[in-house]
Amino acid sequence: MEDRAATLPPTGVIRVCGIIGYIGTEEAAPLLLQSLKRLEYRGYDSAGIALIREGKLIRFRRAGKVRDLEEAVRTEEIHATIGIGHTRWATHGAPTDKNAHPHLDCSAKLAVIHNGIIENFLELRTRLAADGHTFASDTDTEVLAHLIEDRFDGDLLLAVRQAVLECSGAFAVAVLCEDVPDRIVVAKRGSPLVVGLGETGGFVSSDIPALLGKATDVQFLLDDELAEIRADRLRIVGLDGKEIHRPAHKVSIDPVSIQKGGYKHFMLKEIYEQPRSTAETIREKQTADGTSLVVPTCGAQVSSCDAAYLIACGTAYHAALVAEYLWEEHLPIPLHAVIASEFRSRRMHVTPKTLVVVVSQSGETIDTLMALRRAREGGARILALVNAERSAIDRESDATVYTRAGIEIGVAATKTFTAQIAALGLLGLALGQERGTVSREAVREELRQLTLLPGKITEALRLEPTILELAERLHRAKDVLFLARGVLFPVALEGALKLKEISYIHAEGYPAGEMKHGPIALIDEGTPVVMLVSGGVAREKILSNMEEVKARRGCVVAVTDVPDDPAIRRLADHVLPIPTCLGISLPIVFSIPLQLLAYHIAVCRGTDVDQPRNLAKTVTVE
Ligand code: AGP
Repeated sequence: MEDRAATLPPTGVIRVCGIIGYIGTEEAAPLLLQSLKRLEYRGYDSAGIALIREGKLIRFRRAGKVRDLEEAVRTEEIHATIGIGHTRWATHGAPTDKNAHPHLDCSAKLAVIHNGIIENFLELRTRLAADGHTFASDTDTEVLAHLIEDRFDGDLLLAVRQAVLECSGAFAVAVLCEDVPDRIVVAKRGSPLVVGLGETGGFVSSDIPALLGKATDVQFLLDDELAEIRADRLRIVGLDGKEIHRPAHKVSIDPVSIQKGGYKHFMLKEIYEQPRSTAETIREKQTADGTSLVVPTCGAQVSSCDAAYLIACGTAYHAALVAEYLWEEHLPIPLHAVIASEFRSRRMHVTPKTLVVVVSQSGETIDTLMALRRAREGGARILALVNAERSAIDRESDATVYTRAGIEIGVAATKTFTAQIAALGLLGLALGQERGTVSREAVREELRQLTLLPGKITEALRLEPTILELAERLHRAKDVLFLARGVLFPVALEGALKLKEISYIHAEGYPAGEMKHGPIALIDEGTPVVMLVSGGVAREKILSNMEEVKARRGCVVAVTDVPDDPAIRRLADHVLPIPTCLGISLPIVFSIPLQLLAYHIAVCRGTDVDQPRNLAKTVTVE
């Protein structure tokens, strides 16, 4: 992988924000606003743009969502063909108008937007203030505007390069200056930045989705690189000022993939994409005849490793936990799924004989990235499992297994979760084959089962009308429990996370056997308890747990692949039947009704399903 040798950014808090910049022949204001909406998944508590109109720099910014900014900008009256835009997720400094980006220098001729944190900003701010600079915000970003102002002598690229040389921390920065109205200058360390060219001009963005349909050829900047973007060309330089040449990548993602396609929300569209996203993920990991596996495994490391860690956050952690259950069936070594932020703070034992698998949809989650670096210090080889190619985690790993879920825009992960389970399941089998603990026949049988998976997911999706009715009954609940055993326990955790994230209802996932050790106290008359019951996973035991819930007059929702079981019929208030599944398919198909339930409860409650409060799609904050 050509980018794996990227330099390592420093540690530190990195703010989640979206950056966009454009110079060309189109009207910049509507283009920037449209792109900011596509970047809103990165942060949505304030937004702003700066443009150069008739030789003068103008700025608009607002606390709130991009639609609030849009109301403040009369695009039809602003004729400008160059500009930068920013959407923010505040960690330092309240999400107010004055802290919204872009930030200006003293002369108000130069505007800066920034994703990251300038760790030495206090020291720089004190010095700049003593030199007479006036600060108008509480942000660290503003020091960049004043630093660049200090250095600027007609050459903007040089001034930005000198300014970032004085900064420690992480940044993706874009700078606009009315004295040089034919270019945007950008710099990167730590936070992602993509530059590109298209038919109508030059672009910069934090991520590809904002550039779809606009840029045709893009380059992912590496750390400590700067770029000068003009309407018809890009120039990339290092911190030493030396020019860097490398081939651009063609943008191959279909812009249709970032449209709602008739669905009310991206989340619902993404739920319905799962027959295809899981099939795509599986297709790539097998030979054309569908009988053997083709999965990168870090080779020699695997046959001799004596333990494996699966490291991830949030939903990806739940997929890692599913993998722990699936892998222990055939990998006779200790396996630990660990939350990335905990992995970093604990004394986890990592040696060159440890296999480390890092799971992340975005490939940019800072906790996961830092855990990866920590594991590398112990000498482990790192296998990544990501959805975003060329992301930081992809680049910094020794080998990568990709999920092929396509871009996921809904903040609540759905199709990437099931794709992660599919990919991790197959990776586990490939690891087992390399160690000689999984036979070719076992692989062939699992792959045969997986050919049935898209059809089974489609069948589970047909439950939507029933789930909609159920959501109408349950959406006023205060607490919801999700209980399961074995490999379905992490699916219960994920069901609870989905509900919390988008409906703001308190929900907990528990191993059903643990219920009597505490959570049973939450069960009161009518408390919804979603129980996952599979014919193949400790059915008798979970039926006893169902009795316990009913004895406390809880409201049992049974998601089950054995819906005709008389005990379930007797005990459950609501039954959601799903098709019978085995192996890797089982946790995937059980996830579908839980996603639909969370979605419809959230819609009933009127929440912002695709952009739930306080969350961001890519969490680059430690
Ligand atoms: C999922 O619904 C969440 N938004 C969140 O838990 C997410 O899975 C987590 O932040 C990890 O993200 P990653 O997969 O991009 O690393």
